[in-house]
Amino acid sequence: MQPIHHLGEEISNARRDQLIQLEARSQRTFTPSQAVIARSAGVFHWTPEGKKLFDFTSGVLVANLGHNPNSWMRRFYRYMNWPESFSNASSFFEAVPMTAYNGVTPIEMEASQRLIEFTKNRPGGSRLNQVMWAASGSEAIQKALWAAMARDKNRPMILATRFGFHGKKGLANAVTGSEQDSERDPRVRFISFPMQECADVSKREDEIDLRPFRHELHELWDQFDHKIGVMITEPYLGGGGSYHPQKSYLQMLQAFCHQHDLIFILDEVQSNFGRTGKMFAYETYGLEPDMVVLGKGLGNGVPVAAVLGRGDIFSSLQYGEASDTWSANPLNCASVLATLDEFEERDVLGPMQEVSKFIEAGLIELKKFPFVEHVRGEQGGMVWGLEFRPHANLSGGEWANRFVLEGYLGDGGTTPGVHLLGPLAKKVVRISPPLVITQEEASNAMAILHRAAQRMNSET
Ligand SMILES: Cc1ncc(COP(=O)(O)O)c(C=O)c1O
Repeated sequence: MQPIHHLGEEISNARRDQLIQLEARSQRTFTPSQAVIARSAGVFHWTPEGKKLFDFTSGVLVANLGHNPNSWMRRFYRYMNWPESFSNASSFFEAVPMTAYNGVTPIEMEASQRLIEFTKNRPGGSRLNQVMWAASGSEAIQKALWAAMARDKNRPMILATRFGFHGKKGLANAVTGSEQDSERDPRVRFISFPMQECADVSKREDEIDLRPFRHELHELWDQFDHKIGVMITEPYLGGGGSYHPQKSYLQMLQAFCHQHDLIFILDEVQSNFGRTGKMFAYETYGLEPDMVVLGKGLGNGVPVAAVLGRGDIFSSLQYGEASDTWSANPLNCASVLATLDEFEERDVLGPMQEVSKFIEAGLIELKKFPFVEHVRGEQGGMVWGLEFRPHANLSGGEWANRFVLEGYLGDGGTTPGVHLLGPLAKKVVRISPPLVITQEEASNAMAILHRAAQRMNSET
C-alpha cells in the first residue's frame, strides 16, 4: 500500500509511514489529507510541522465545546477529585475510582440523575425517565434495540429508515444501510427516508407528499402483522450524506409507532447537544421518542454513550443482559457531568445560531463552482453536507476528495488549512465545526475553502 505523503511534511510523512507498519488500515476511514495532529485547542489542530488547521469535523462531531476547553477540563478534574499536582510522597492518592464494575459510585448516580433531568425536562422528553449507559454509539444502539425487542418477544422485527447509519457492530450494523447490503439480518426491514425531497437547503420549506411513505409503512405492517415491535431512525441521515428531512416526515413515523404500539427509537448519537440548533433533535423536529440514543458530544472527547428512555421498556432486560466493563465508568460520568455543566451555565447555542447563518451562506456561495451541486444542513445548526457533482471528466467523489485535500493544504506549506473528513456517501463533504466557533474563525476558514475551490476550478 502506498503511504500518503505531502511535500515538506517530513515529520508527518514519517508518522504516516509508521502507521502502515503498525496499525490495521481497516480501523481508519480513508481521508486524502491524512492529517497528523500533534496538538489541539478550541477549533484548531496543529500538525507536527506547526501547520494550523481549522477543525471543520469536531473529531467526527465529538468536540462540540472545542478541543481541550479549560473550564470543561477543570470541572472534569474536580468531578474525578484529582489533585492539582501529583506528589511523590505516597504511591497512591485518594480520588474517584477509574473502574467501578458492579460497584455503585456516587458520581454515577449524579450523572444519571442529571442526564435524565437534562433530557426529560425539554419539550418531547417526557418519556425519558431512565438511563442505560454504554461506551460507544453503536453499543448504545445495540442496547436500545435489545431492550425494545425484549419487551415483546412475539414482535422481534425492527423497522429502520433506509441509508441510516447507526454503527458498524452487531445490531447497530443490522439497522444501518439498506436491504441491498449483503447478509442482512432477517429481522430488519427498511423504509424510505426522504432524500430527493430534501436534496438541497433550497427545498427546506417545500411541502413533502407523505402518501408514498405512509403507503410503504402500511404495506410492511400488513406483510409482517404483529411481528414488528420497534422502529429506529436518525433525525437526519448523517453518515448517509446529510439529508435533513421535513419535520412532518418524522412526525408521521412517530404517529405510526403510536398507532401500532411500536417503540420509537431516535438515534441522536450525532445530533445531540446542539447540532440541529436546539439541544436535541427531538426538540427541533417536534418528537416525543420512547428512547433517545446519545453519544459523541456527550463526553466532549471521553468515549461515552447512553440510552435515555422508558424505564418500563428497560426493565424487560434482566441483571447483566446489558452490562459490560466500561458502561457507567466514573471517567465517563465525570465527562458527562462536565458537559452538562457547560451547556447549563453558558449560552453555547445562541451565538452558534448566528455563526451558523454565516457558514451556511458561505457554503451556498460555493455552488457557483461547477463541481458543487448541493448544500444540505440544519437551519441554525452546525452540520451540513456539501455534495459534489461530476464535472470535466471527474466524478463527484473525485471532486469531493480534491476539496478535502485542497482544504488541508490551504495556500501551501505551513499556511493554515481546514481539516475535513473523507466524503460521506462517496461525494458529500461534511462541515461540522465545534459549536463554539466564532464569526472571525468561521470567516477565515470559509475564505480558505473558497480559495481551495477557486484553485480547483482554475486547474481544470
Ligand atoms: C447517528 C449515529 N449513530 C451511531 C453511530 C455509531 O457511534 P460509534 O461510532 O460511537 O459506535 C454514529 C457514528 O458515527 C452515528 O453518526
